[in-house]
Amino acid sequence: MIEGSYRLPELFETTRYILRRVKVSDAQLIFDGYAKDPKVTRFLGWKPHSSNVDTTAFLNIATAEWDRGTGFPVIAFHRERPNELIGMFHPHLMGHQVTYGYVLRATAWGQGAASEIMTWLVDHALSHPEIFRVEAFCDVENRASARVMEKAGMTFEGVLRRYFLHPNISDTPRDCMMYAKVR
Ligand SMILES: CC(C)(COP(=O)(O)OP(=O)(O)OC[C@H]1O[C@@H](n2cnc3c(N)ncnc32)[C@H](O)[C@@H]1OP(=O)(O)O)[C@@H](O)C(=O)NCCC(=O)NCCS
Repeated sequence: MIEGSYRLPELFETTRYILRRVKVSDAQLIFDGYAKDPKVTRFLGWKPHSSNVDTTAFLNIATAEWDRGTGFPVIAFHRERPNELIGMFHPHLMGHQVTYGYVLRATAWGQGAASEIMTWLVDHALSHPEIFRVEAFCDVENRASARVMEKAGMTFEGVLRRYFLHPNISDTPRDCMMYAKVR
């Protein structure tokens, strides 16, 4: 039995990856790794960062969530290459639900990293007694992200029309695919 509200550990490992709580001082690493890359941000809710000042501003907000217990942003590294950033996973706690965002640097795509880590995160959340639902959504054209959610055990629940603004694709809100796993 786990005591208290759901939280992520500040450091944990999956089969191939090591993940830790992100810090504001990771801004340059994240800016260089993916935040400046328009290929990576194409389906995301933010435009590519123009300098590490943008990344620092984001991390100031994201890291404060951990202290409040509302969000648990972690960055991933390969266990055998611990200086090489893979990307970020960002679970948010909303009552009995956990919702996820995730982003990987382009050179880490296609190796099963997001599926492996999301599978770990989904199983971890649903093993907590207060969590009954985990969910994530993606743009209707983001096939890779949809597949990650399927591989993490989530089920397609439907298209949420005009659900979220993806400003690198359109100036108006986009249709999104919602996936979830419940217990
Ligand atoms: C989406 C993203 C996280 C996927 O990460 P990844 O580690 O490359 O994904 P995985 O390797 O674990 O698995 C991807 C799956 O999608 C499939 N896939 C990849 N590109 C695809 C495409 N264009 N169309 C259909 N399937 C695709 C892969 O084949 C794989 O499925 P399979 O194992 O059945 O073959 C990564 O591409 C990314 O960071 N993209 C930019 C940010 C983003 O879109 N984040 C999600 C926002 S909702």
